[in-house]
Amino acid sequence: MKIMVVGGGGREHAIIKKLKENKTVEKIYALPGNGGIAADAECVNIGAKDIKAITEFAVENKIDYAVVAPDDPLVLGAVDLLEAAGIPCFGPKANAAIIEGSKIFSKNLMKKYGIPTAAYEVFDNKEDALKYLEGCDYPTVIKADGLALGKGVIIAQTKQEAVDAVHSMMEDKVFGESGSRIVVEEFLTGPEVSVLSFTDGNVVKPMVSSMDHKRALDNDEGLNTGGMGTVAPNPYYTADVAKECMEKIFLPTINAMKAEGREFRGCLYFGLMITEKGPKVIEYNCRFGDPETQVVLPLLESDLLTVMQAVTNGTLADTEVKFSNDSACCVILASKGYPVKYESGFEIVLPETDDGIIYVAGAKKDGDKLLSAGGRVLGVTATAPTLKEAVDKAYALTAKVKFDNGFCRKDIGRRALMRK
Ligand code: AMP
Ligand code: GLY
Repeated sequence: MKIMVVGGGGREHAIIKKLKENKTVEKIYALPGNGGIAADAECVNIGAKDIKAITEFAVENKIDYAVVAPDDPLVLGAVDLLEAAGIPCFGPKANAAIIEGSKIFSKNLMKKYGIPTAAYEVFDNKEDALKYLEGCDYPTVIKADGLALGKGVIIAQTKQEAVDAVHSMMEDKVFGESGSRIVVEEFLTGPEVSVLSFTDGNVVKPMVSSMDHKRALDNDEGLNTGGMGTVAPNPYYTADVAKECMEKIFLPTINAMKAEGREFRGCLYFGLMITEKGPKVIEYNCRFGDPETQVVLPLLESDLLTVMQAVTNGTLADTEVKFSNDSACCVILASKGYPVKYESGFEIVLPETDDGIIYVAGAKKDGDKLLSAGGRVLGVTATAPTLKEAVDKAYALTAKVKFDNGFCRKDIGRRALMRK
C-alpha cells in the first residue's frame, strides 16, 4: 500500500513509524515531513494547509490511504477534498473538525447535550465583553473562538489582565479573525488528562490516557507551549474516572455530533480536567495530540493501519484496539528561547540506540547533517514496565543527544510519579 501522511512534526513522525510496522505498507509519503522524518518516509514539499495540492498529489501518485494529522487542513476540509477524489482517509470532515475549529461551537454543543464543561459566555463585540468582565470572578479564562496555534487561551488572574486580553484579541486582532468572537469561561482546577480516542462516529475506543506538560519551564512555570513532554498512562485517570468519562463525556459527544449531522470519524482528543465535581471537558481537538501521540502510539499493540481503516470503514466495533500495560515518557528538546524567540540551524547529532525512540519535530537536512528548524525539535521517548523507569530511560537518552542550542524540562513525569 502507498500511504500519505499530511503534517511534519513529532506527532507525524510517531504515526509514520507506527504505520511502518504493517507489512503491507510499501511506501509512505510525508507532506511536508521534515529532515528527521526523511529517514522513515519520502518527504514532499507541499505544505499541510495546501489542501488542493495535497489532493492533486494523492491522485497523481495513486495513494491508497491518507492520514491527515494537523488541525488546520482538517478544519479547512482536506478530508472532504480527498474523499471526493476517491482517496480513503483517516480524519474528520470539516463539518466535524469544527469541534476544534470553533470553541463557540464546542461549548454550545456541550451545553445543548449536557456534557460537563466550564460555565461560559460568548461575545462578538468588545463592549459587551468588557462590561461582563466588571462583574465576573477571577481568575477567569478568555479563549479566542478559532484556531490560534495553541495560543488562543489566556488565564487572566486579574480584571486588568482580562481587559488586556480582550483588547489584544478583539481590537489588535493578535489571532486574526480567530479572535473576533471570544468565550469567557469559568476557571476550573484539578489535574488535567488527555484522552485520545478512535471513533468511527458510532463507537468510541479510548486510547491509553496521557499527561501533557504545557508550560515551558520546570514546576509548570513560564509560558504555555505546544507541550514540553508527556507521560502515559496518566495516574489521575483511574478506572472510576474512565467509566464516568465514557458515560458522561465520550459517548454523549459522539452521539451529539451524530445527532447534529456531523458524524466524527478519526481521532477525537478529549482534554479533560478532573475537578472536585467530576471530570469536565477543557477542550476538544479533532486530531491526535502532539506530544501525546509520541507516548500513546508506542504503547499500542494493535496494528495502527488496521485500526485507522476500521475507523474509515465504520467497522471499529469489530476491531480490537489493545494497549500494553507499560508506561511511556517523551521529553521534548526545544530550541532555547521557545516559545517566544529562538534561532534555528544548529547541528543535531542523534545517538545510535535501541533504548528508546527519537521523534523529530523540527529539523531539516543539510547534506548528511541534521539542523534544528523549529521551536520543538525532538521528542525523546522511552517505554518501560514502570513510569519511573520510562522517565529515567527517556532522560538518559536525552543526555546522549548532541544539540547545543537545546533545552528541556527536567521534571517531565514528576507530578505523575508523585500521584503514584
Ligand atoms: P486549551 O488550548 O484549550 O487546551 O487551553 C490551554 C490550557 O489552558 C489548558 O491545558 C488548561 O491548562 C488551561 N485552561 C483552559 N481552560 C481552562 C479553564 N476553564 N480553567 C482552567 N484552566 C483552563
Ligand atoms: N499537546 C496538546 C495538543 O496537541 O493540543
